Amino acid sequence: MATRETFDPEIRIAELRAQIRHHDELYYGEDEPEISDAEYDALMVELRALEAAHPELVTTDSPTQKPGAATQSTFASVEHIVPMFSLDNAFSAEDLEAWEQRVAKTIGDEVRVVCEPKMDGLAISLLYENGTLVRGATRGDGAVGEDVTANVATIANIPHTLTGPRVPARLEVRGEVYMPIASFEALNERQAAANDKLFVNPRNAAAGSLRQKDATVTASRDLALFAYQLGAVEGGPEFTTHRETLDWLAELGLPVNPKIESVTGWQAVFDFCTTMQEGRHALGYDIDGVVIKIDDLAAREALGFTSRAPRWAIAYKFPPEEKHTLLHDIEVHVGRTGRVTPFAVLEPVFVGGSTVARATLHNEDEVARRDVRPGDTVIVRKAGDVIPEVVGPVLAKRPKSAKAWQFPVNCPSCGEPLVRPEGESVHRCVNFDCPEKVVQRIIFFAARASMDIEGLGEDRVRQFVDAGLLHHSGDIYSLTVALLVPLERMGEQSSQALVANIEASKTRPLAKVINGLGIRHVGPAAANALAKALGSMDAVAAASAEQLAAIDGIGDVIAQSIQAYFADARNAPVLDALRAAGVTLEQELAAADSVSAGLAGQTFVVTGTLDDFTREEAAAAIEARGGKVASSVSKKTSYVVAGAKAGSKLTKAEQLGVAVLDEAAFVALLDASA
Ligand code: IVH
Repeated sequence: MATRETFDPEIRIAELRAQIRHHDELYYGEDEPEISDAEYDALMVELRALEAAHPELVTTDSPTQKPGAATQSTFASVEHIVPMFSLDNAFSAEDLEAWEQRVAKTIGDEVRVVCEPKMDGLAISLLYENGTLVRGATRGDGAVGEDVTANVATIANIPHTLTGPRVPARLEVRGEVYMPIASFEALNERQAAANDKLFVNPRNAAAGSLRQKDATVTASRDLALFAYQLGAVEGGPEFTTHRETLDWLAELGLPVNPKIESVTGWQAVFDFCTTMQEGRHALGYDIDGVVIKIDDLAAREALGFTSRAPRWAIAYKFPPEEKHTLLHDIEVHVGRTGRVTPFAVLEPVFVGGSTVARATLHNEDEVARRDVRPGDTVIVRKAGDVIPEVVGPVLAKRPKSAKAWQFPVNCPSCGEPLVRPEGESVHRCVNFDCPEKVVQRIIFFAARASMDIEGLGEDRVRQFVDAGLLHHSGDIYSLTVALLVPLERMGEQSSQALVANIEASKTRPLAKVINGLGIRHVGPAAANALAKALGSMDAVAAASAEQLAAIDGIGDVIAQSIQAYFADARNAPVLDALRAAGVTLEQELAAADSVSAGLAGQTFVVTGTLDDFTREEAAAAIEARGGKVASSVSKKTSYVVAGAKAGSKLTKAEQLGVAVLDEAAFVALLDASA
């Protein structure tokens, strides 16, 4: 890892790219991610930022350049009136003391401070004009955020109108939007029932719920606000302390956290931090620390800001939580690609905001490195949304009988010998027909990222495989109500619903079908690239390794993996069944995501000279929207686009009664069909 002193952006960029590729491989190629989505996003954000600062280091094969990698914002930008600053962090009592000493130099010792729970949600800025909510914006980069007014307006405890005798002409107020833990759990239950993506933690759920294009989705998620800081104020009362401003916000009808306390002296600050740390799980919402703010506003002025954060406040971050618990056993999980992953079976323990009963141990070497043995008392750690981790054993509590764990020699599902290739850390079950691999492949095919078959989750897949109804993913399309009804927990109605969902999945785009095959290394991005470049399953199957590797986003390893998949006769029954069922196996070339179908089925003839387009450019604009361009006018022509000096084609159009567009009308039609 590059250190601050020797920071070399080129090295760090290379490191980040390698890490991201590694995690892509685990996420798409295997089925065992090592890090949470949030951690993955953080790597991507850091890489994008470094590439933005060093454009000369951007390469075409960087993960940031991959199709679908960039998460483009779809909200309008808003400039905050007062910038939204970040906070400096204190990770220990020493850090906190160092801050206090710096503060004391400017404003003395006996300082009054306000201690606030550090809400683990997302920062929001609300703007009220003459008491009416006119805008809600995310923090963005601190200077410019995203306009999420429609979404914010659906949050139950955000007032649309301010109350009380002291409503200002203008108020910019900052706070945190969060999702209470109970609401988060209920949401995930609903998501699971609908075979939809689960959220890792309440913060991700809050962020995902707020940044919805459709505000009715936000409205259906139980979000809440705590206001904690003034931004710009016009025509409001005068204040001398932060505490007074919080009381005023409450008077205006804004929710202010009742746990906030004003205290004097540093001992009281430590006490508040300890109390919060110990009591954090009883709050009903996630906090990740305590924000400590100087109360006196004149003292704040004296302290001022650094470039990114105020000197008058600091965030004390709780350490990652660690608990001791019993390691009952180490078991292994077989994934769809045959990867065999050991995991710890723990006595359930509440740590880092959730109950942990299992934790991945990654591979044989990691188990050895940690030296954890069944029967050990182990240290389990979880920081925020980080995946729970078994840190190591408490050796003093190791029972004499505890024996070092041995990786199983045979697959726990099919009994075949496991293989660990030279130089690799992973064990695999290489039996194609291994029952667990079969189940995992079908689960993956039906999952949201693939064919999105609602109601066909893990339990039902296992049930149908056990009942002999499913042998591979293609068999899903032979399920009928008559076959399902006799099964346990499958009544007439749920059978009908499931069969209808299966039917609906036949029209999923080609890329989803390719993804659903579960070809090793082929994730959604590669599946999209294949669908777009080759346009049919047959073309993918027939392409040479060179042709495949020439496609943007497909490298040699992926190309070889695709070839191996189609060369393997054991995969043929799946493809045959999909074809027989009428599942989408082809699409118009390049129709995958770059072409919108706004002008599909319409034929254009372009004639005369246009101001802003050459003929070719006009044709390209039409074709990009799914329309066709012809050279002569007939009754079948939908439109004639007529520029200056249009001649016989215009006359013909008028004779045949074909619609004629001038350039302005043509541009308007293009815009409307984009
Ligand atoms: S005050 C200039 N107060 O922490 C001061 N922030 O690490 C700006 N946060 O972006 C922030 N609880 O999202 C403040 N009581 C609280 C907070 C809080 C949570 C978040 C906020 C901010 C981040 C900085």
